[in-house]
Amino acid sequence: NTRTPLMAGNWKMNLDHHQATHTVQKLAWTLKDAKHDYSTVEVAVLPPFTDLRSVQTLVDADKLDVKYGAQDVSAHLEGAYTGEISATMLAKLGVTYVAIGHSERREYHAETDALLNEKILAAVGQGLAPVLCVGEGLDVRKAGEQIPHTIAQLQGALAGIPATQLENLVVAYEPVWAIGTGEVATPEDAQEVCGAIRGALGDLYDGELADATRVLYGGSVKSSNVAAIMSQPDVDGALVGGASLDPEEFAKIVRYQA
Ligand code: G3H
Repeated sequence: NTRTPLMAGNWKMNLDHHQATHTVQKLAWTLKDAKHDYSTVEVAVLPPFTDLRSVQTLVDADKLDVKYGAQDVSAHLEGAYTGEISATMLAKLGVTYVAIGHSERREYHAETDALLNEKILAAVGQGLAPVLCVGEGLDVRKAGEQIPHTIAQLQGALAGIPATQLENLVVAYEPVWAIGTGEVATPEDAQEVCGAIRGALGDLYDGELADATRVLYGGSVKSSNVAAIMSQPDVDGALVGGASLDPEEFAKIVRYQA
């Protein structure tokens, strides 16, 4: 396939803007020392909103190849929505990616598929690449319903959005039981659902979109388990939480082929 692997670090609510600058600088230096070719594995960080301006300033000043994104976006483009951040604001900051529907947003902020659908439209309308997060909880996994559950989330979030708006779509399969628990899905578990996601994209759209869309795995990814997960044909990268806060560890994840 022609999909460039993507390693994206989701910092969640960690690292202030000083720490953000330090972390991105260290990541870039470590990857430079390793002579990392960013065209073979793309690298992105998703810091808190308050860090984005600092990260942009550093990336621009040092001409870094590290991309950056946001962890959420408003469904609205402007107006009386206290506390929200719009896709237009993010686009102005040079943001590439925006996570949409992370399980922590679904759980703690009651985000529904219908809302995620609006957020995806807001993001793509401003040229941002959505990283749509889907995945089942432990009860669903125990019932063996992970594929229908995850595909229903995918269909709900993408409902009515034409393929022409999804050129930059990324999907992240994150089984909730594997997030922050140290319990990583087996490579076969990851492949099963990532393959089903690609199949569903083919059914919803066409083979071209399914082939072009990167499907990431997320959930307790570390440098010690990333290569096995990446060996699977339908896994095109990782959405890394905890391990992305340590720039040397995250660089090792990026360099999983080395
Ligand atoms: O977005 C990242 C995931 O929630 C995974 O987090 O690597 O800390 O398990 P984790």
